[in-house]
Amino acid sequence: MVSTSEYWEQRYQEGTTRWDLGQAAPAFVSLLQSHSLQPGKAAVLGSGRGYDAIAFAKYGFDVIGFDFALLAIAEATAIAQARDSSAQFLQRDIFDLPAEFSRYFHYIIEHTCFCAINPQQRQDYVKLVREILQPRGELIAIFFTHSRPGGPPFGVSPEEIKQYFATDFEILKLQPITNSVPARQGEEHFGHFRLKL
Ligand SMILES: C[S@@+](CC[C@H](N)C(=O)[O-])C[C@H]1O[C@@H](n2cnc3c(N)ncnc32)[C@H](O)[C@@H]1O
Repeated sequence: MVSTSEYWEQRYQEGTTRWDLGQAAPAFVSLLQSHSLQPGKAAVLGSGRGYDAIAFAKYGFDVIGFDFALLAIAEATAIAQARDSSAQFLQRDIFDLPAEFSRYFHYIIEHTCFCAINPQQRQDYVKLVREILQPRGELIAIFFTHSRPGGPPFGVSPEEIKQYFATDFEILKLQPITNSVPARQGEEHFGHFRLKL
């Protein structure tokens, strides 16, 4: 079951982690290189082996990556240490974060976590993002907008993304990504949303 840590832990144990780019997502790298974000406290949800978290830390963000697969946390921590990165990684179920990090982060970074959870948990995901962001905090997201049935990865359309987030967030940007890795060309949207309160 995709909602259990055992399911994901097994993927890491077997090495069947086909989603792993082995590098930060190109859309995040271009965003960071533009220096358009003021660094702050950032959470990476479902951080995997940590490449996105390490990229944000390199640009001065105070980053914690969260994942409930222990091996992902161990490998991300080892990669960060090898690269002398300040990014930290904690084993947590993201849905438990509000109790520990209420209104704490300036930014939430999303990449292939929203598409990994059971679609029935999407409202809970929006709620958790809302609860751990500071007022006017921002969600920086790469959404997997493919339209194939089933999952993971479970696709989502831009219209559905707006339906989930527009009540609580200003949609600053939601647009197709043009510099995806080849296997994901035409199937990703970049989202930049700001919490209304
Ligand atoms: C498809 S992988 C993506 C990993 C990483 N973002 C990347 O792009 O390489 C999804 C990750 O989310 C984690 N995950 C899924 N549901 C989670 C939850 N409820 N709490 C914490 N981590 C979760 C999985 O363990 C897995 O590492």
